[in-house]
Amino acid sequence: MGTVAVENVSVSDEPGFLPDDVPAGDVTLASYEAAAGAYLQQSPPPGLRVQAYLDQIAELVGAGTVLELGSGPGWDAVYLESRGSRVVRTDAVNAFVDLLLAAGHPARLLDVRVDDFGGPYDAVMANAVLLHLSRDHFVDVLGRARHAVAGHGLFSFTLKEGVGGGWSRAKLGLPRHFTYWRERELRSALEANGWQVLSLEHVTGRVEPWLYVLARADGNHGGIVR
Ligand SMILES: C[S@@+](CC[C@H](N)C(=O)[O-])C[C@H]1O[C@@H](n2cnc3c(N)ncnc32)[C@H](O)[C@@H]1O
Repeated sequence: MGTVAVENVSVSDEPGFLPDDVPAGDVTLASYEAAAGAYLQQSPPPGLRVQAYLDQIAELVGAGTVLELGSGPGWDAVYLESRGSRVVRTDAVNAFVDLLLAAGHPARLLDVRVDDFGGPYDAVMANAVLLHLSRDHFVDVLGRARHAVAGHGLFSFTLKEGVGGGWSRAKLGLPRHFTYWRERELRSALEANGWQVLSLEHVTGRVEPWLYVLARADGNHGGIVR
């Protein structure tokens, strides 16, 4: 599997002092690897707003299969399964995959930047995950998710709303990089990569505003049709 090794990234360094050739995404993954326990402690099961979003997904997918990217602690997967959908759990961080396996859920390592998504699935879901990608990697994921869904499959994901990007030590006490998106650029990227936007909601967060997206494969690109 082509998962990027993060062992050589020292997360004790401030990002500004890291060598230029360490990608921000690798630093972020190293931080999650080192502090997955701290993240778990601060990540409660989905509140009502996220539940409403997951309900929409479950309604569209029914008993179908959802590929979850960046499952983390795995709360969303448990909720979706309680609504009758099947979820394939993945994450690029060993500590999260181990946690999911220990809880009795099949799970595998998958770095969205480099690993094959497999498929076809009825939906791909990434809640609070793609916000850690550069814009180029994000656009690449839009295309690969399009090829991983069957027919008019679904892509659901959430991002932080805003301009540019930046580092935060919130929650983990270690650096994570975030890329912010605006509705207009996001809609253009989706439409250019074979996705028809079903809904794009602006959601108030505890600290920052979010974008909750549901998109449907438009049928004009090279996805797997069944
Ligand atoms: C903010 S957490 C969200 C976790 C979970 N989706 C949730 O909503 O509770 C971000 C997750 O994305 C994962 N992640 C970050 N970069 C990733 C990448 N390149 N490939 C796969 N997962 C990644 C992290 O390991 C972490 O589990």
